[in-house]
Formats: sequence, C-alpha cells, structure tokens
Amino acid sequence: MTTGPALGVCYYPEHWPEARWAEDAAAMREFGIRYVRIGEFAWGRMEPEPGIHDWSWLDRAIRTLAEAGLDIVLGTPTASPPKWLVDRHPDILPHDEKGHVRGFGSRRHYTASSDTYWRESARIVESMAARYGDHPKVVGWQIDNEFGDNDSILSYGPEDIAGFRRWLRGRYQTPEALNEAWSNVFWSMEVSSFDDVGAPVGTVGEANPSARLDYRRYFSDRFAEYCAMQAAIIRRLSPGRFVTHNFMSLFHDFDHFKMAESLDFASWDSYPLGKVESFPFSDDERIRWARTSHPDMSALHHDLFRGMAGNSFWVMEQQPGPVNWGKWNPAPAPGMVRLWSWEAFAHGAETVSYFRWRQFGVAQEQMHSGLHRPDGQISPGGREARRVAQEIADFCALPASQQAKVAIVFDYEASWILKIQPQGQDFNYSVLVHNWYEALRRCGVDIDFVAPGASLAGYALVIVPTLPHVSPAALAAFQAFDGIILFGPRSGSKTRHYAIPENQPPGPLQELIALKVAEVSSLRPGLAFGLSGAVSGTGGRWIETIETALAPAAVDDAGEPVLVRDGRRLYLGAWIEGETLRRFARSLLVEAGLDVIDLPDHIRLRRRGDLVFAFNYGTEPWPIPAAGPALRIGAAEIPPRDLACWTDQLS
Ligand code: GLA
Repeated sequence: MTTGPALGVCYYPEHWPEARWAEDAAAMREFGIRYVRIGEFAWGRMEPEPGIHDWSWLDRAIRTLAEAGLDIVLGTPTASPPKWLVDRHPDILPHDEKGHVRGFGSRRHYTASSDTYWRESARIVESMAARYGDHPKVVGWQIDNEFGDNDSILSYGPEDIAGFRRWLRGRYQTPEALNEAWSNVFWSMEVSSFDDVGAPVGTVGEANPSARLDYRRYFSDRFAEYCAMQAAIIRRLSPGRFVTHNFMSLFHDFDHFKMAESLDFASWDSYPLGKVESFPFSDDERIRWARTSHPDMSALHHDLFRGMAGNSFWVMEQQPGPVNWGKWNPAPAPGMVRLWSWEAFAHGAETVSYFRWRQFGVAQEQMHSGLHRPDGQISPGGREARRVAQEIADFCALPASQQAKVAIVFDYEASWILKIQPQGQDFNYSVLVHNWYEALRRCGVDIDFVAPGASLAGYALVIVPTLPHVSPAALAAFQAFDGIILFGPRSGSKTRHYAIPENQPPGPLQELIALKVAEVSSLRPGLAFGLSGAVSGTGGRWIETIETALAPAAVDDAGEPVLVRDGRRLYLGAWIEGETLRRFARSLLVEAGLDVIDLPDHIRLRRRGDLVFAFNYGTEPWPIPAAGPALRIGAAEIPPRDLACWTDQLS
C-alpha cells in the first residue's frame, strides 16, 4: 500500500470577506495544497437562531473551495456552542473543581455529561451531514476539535455528578459493591445509595483514590461515546468519507485508544515549540531546544497516533511559526517548519495540514502565525511549507509504514493512576515514556506504540515503561509474547480498584517473573543511588526493594536486586535516565538482535518502507554514515535544521 504525501491547511471562511475566498482558494491550489479543513468553530453562523439554519454562506464557501479543486474536510462545530444554546440550556456548561461554572466567551464550554448537549450536538451534526455528506469534494470529517483542550474533560457540576452516578450504578449495581470496590470502610466513607456519591473533589483531605480513578474512567468513556455518537451520524449520512479527530500531544485525560475505535485514523495537532515549554525539561534543555523543539517531541506523538487506528495518521494542525499560547513563543529556527513536515511524513503521516492559511490579526489568536501574515504576504514558515509542497510533488506516493521491531506499551490509565497518588512528585508518566523513547531512538531504531492487551506478535523487544494496573487482557498479551520484554517500576502495583494487589506488586506479573516488591522509596532531586550489573550508572526518583529467589541482573549500592530477569522477561525496580538508561536500552536492543546506530542527541532516523529519513535538529552538519546512499532529498552531509531521505539499498 502506498499513501500520500499531501498538504492541507486550516481555513476559516467566516473570518474573511467573501470576496477573498476565491482568491484564497486559488492561491492554496497554486501553493500545492490538497486539503482544506473548515467549519469546526462556526456553529453560531450555521445556526444563528435555534432551529434556523443558515447554510447559504457555507454552501458558497464549499462551492468556491471545491471549484478551485480542493478536497474539503468538514469539522463538526461542537467545540463552540453558540450563545443562544448556552442561554437556553445552561445545563450544558462545565464546572470547575470548586463548582464554578466555566462560561460562554471562548470555546469548549460544554460537558459531555449533559444529555441536552448530546441531543443538540446530534442535531447540528445530522443537519450538517445531511446537507454536505454526499458532496463530491467533501472527503472527510473531523469530529469536534481537540477534546480536552483547556482542561475540559473533567467537570464537576450537577450534570456530571448525575452522569457519574448512572455510570457507577451500571458498573457496580449496588452501593455495597461500590463500598467494597472503593474500600469505603476507610475513614467512614461508606454510602448507602448511589445518590450519596459526589464528585471526588472539594474534600477536606485527599479524596478516595478509587473514586478519583473511576471519575476519570467515567469521563473517558463518556467522551469516547460522544465521539462515537457523532461518527455514527456521519457514517450514515456521508458514506465513504473518512472520520477523524484531532488529538493533542502530552495530553492523557481520556483513553485515546478507546476513542479511536470510532475513527478511521487519528489526527493530531503538532506544536513542537509550545510543548517544549510545557514539558518538564530542565531550563538548559528548554533553552537548547527552544527554537527547534526536542528531536523526540513530535516524533513520539507521530508514532503514538499512527498506532491508534489504521497504521496511518494526519497532522491536522502543524505549527507554521510562533504560537500565542506558550509562556514564551519564539519563532522556529529557519528550516524547522520544513523539517517538522517531512518528519511527520517519515513517521507515516498521510497529510500534513498547517494551522492556518493566514494569521487573523484580531481576537484571541491574533499573535498566532499562519502561512501568511495578516497583510497577506507569505510568512517565513509559509515559504518553508511551499518548499515542502514542491518537494513532495516529486514523490507520487510514499510506501506504507512497516511494523517496527520495538514497541512501547502506552497506557492512558497509567497516567491517571500516577497523577492520583504520585507518591514521589516527579514520577511523571510523560517523562518516563519520553525517556525510554529517546534512549531507544538514540540507537537509531524505529518504534511503535501499542495499547495494553494488543498483540505483541512480530516485535523483538517490548518496553513497558510502567503499567500499574495489569488487566487480564494485558497479561494474556504479555504471556503470548516470546521476545524480550521489560517492565518498569510500579508495574502491577495496583488492582483495577486502585488497591495494592494482595500478593504484593507486581501483582499478576508474578506469573511471568517470580519476584515481590516489598517496599518503595521515592527520592527528592539530588538523592541518587548507584547501580551495577546489566544496568550500570546511577538512578534517582524511585527505587524498590525486591524480594526474589532469582539471581539479580543488576544491584544497587547495597547489593540489593534492582533488575531481575527470568529468561526474556525483565523487571526493573528503579527510575533510571540519561546515560544509564541509554546504555541499558542499547544492551536490550543488541540482545534482541537489532542493528544499533549510535546517534548524536540532535540526529534521528526513521524508516518508511524502503526509504530512510535522517533529521538534523542541531547546529552542526551531520555526514550520513552509509556509503553512497541513493538520495531522494538532501545531500550526503545534512546541514543544521535540515534533512535527508534516501533509498535503503539493503531493504
Ligand atoms: C489548537 C486548536 C486551534 C488553534 C491552535 C492554535 O490546536 O485546535 O483551533 O487554537 O490550537 O495553536
């Protein structure tokens, strides 16, 4: 199978005078753009009064874009309910942890708990899909926009509590079963009716962790069902078109794998620079990567979202220049917009779509760049995107991404569990996964992400950075796997109901490796421990006391086991990072029989079919080590902030 590559752009006809649409559409085609995404915030213009639709402007916009030859992706407009809807149905509004209403005036002002909102959403989606579903140039749909943006998954109002109670009733049937599951005997928390249950916030002391985990599960389920509800309407009225959603990076508040079940493929919005500020990098790293981003920041998410559905993905929004929402918003270093675009293709993207065609010099996002400046002149990022368009014209197709040899098991619930009771405040799931990803990619390998319970067949090495709750399905997949598998600290440390397993951590994983975690220590920054054996160097943040009859593969300063293995199954009871982690990751790759290429920290490789891509995030040129590569893009020495692509003659 071959796909893409193609470019897209986000466009808002409602922001511009109609006289400009045809000119913009023609310019997009001339630019080399194939897809244009429109509509996702325009409910107020589509339905200015309750039940009174005004499709005339959208009809004309679609006609104009279609006549220019563009393929159209329609966004359902449910991320921004109009004022009349809020006034008529204030029950749709979300509430913050203090119970205050989060009101009208920006976007995402709804809670998925509200049945009213489901009804209203179904109504607008149905009308929109009935009107445009069979338009020949409407080729796909984006549902809503960035579920969870601005912390909008969890909500704490009356609708939410009612919805949570309904969900609990379905799950536990009786209050007694709920009391048992949540261990409500502790601190006299027992309830005699589901109506006694509130949102697990606003308590004097810490609220029950079991309740907090279920609260998150409830919202995760609710949003997945809400997305599936919209998808079903679109599939009925717009057959043959794709359905996707634009996910966010570094965001875990719902189970994306579950939501992706109703999508044809996942899309995500790539803002590499903004995310360098929000990820817990050190100040030195933030400064180092301020204008390029970290070389694993986008790549990790490309690999994560490629694994959600369909072995493909889109970047629905690509940062084209400075954004407006970081603490600081530098302009990308010259070359980076092009590099990020090609990096997405290298990792399997079918389309890269830039946000947005033209900077809108008013309202909230006036400081957010686009491919063009507010005065219509092309921006520096726009020039780079145009170069990408010219380059991809030479590739009529890119090969499909093949399965990698290395997989990382990624679990959204793990992130919730660690947030609920961190035990050590810097035991951060994003950082843990990022560290493993970086260590492995520094060795030049490609990586897939898989959900717990998914088949691991075909992988030589599987890393489970941590998996606190090991479901029966996950355990079965681990048992069926015959490659090398490593479980990180805190794996198997919680039951489904957020309790310590009766047989001690790692709970069910003891069926794979005979060990018990007797005690755990979290360590403040500055406290470290030495390690020797198969893991050698230093660790910090977290160390476990392991009881086992197996010979340890690595020990700490006191000679106590830190890494235990039984054949090809390993358990690591400590947090390691930096060089220590890199050496260990490398040794696992070598043991798994994989070719290792030691890369400098600013160089990354990625294969797609028979193509090899190399990306230089650094300030020095990098000579490609292979002799005489058959170059498709670039030169044998890759300049800073540039890339090369060649055909792998060995494959
Ligand atoms: C998000 C949203 C867009 C826009 C951009 C700005 O990704 O989906 O509507 O606000 O951020 O960076």
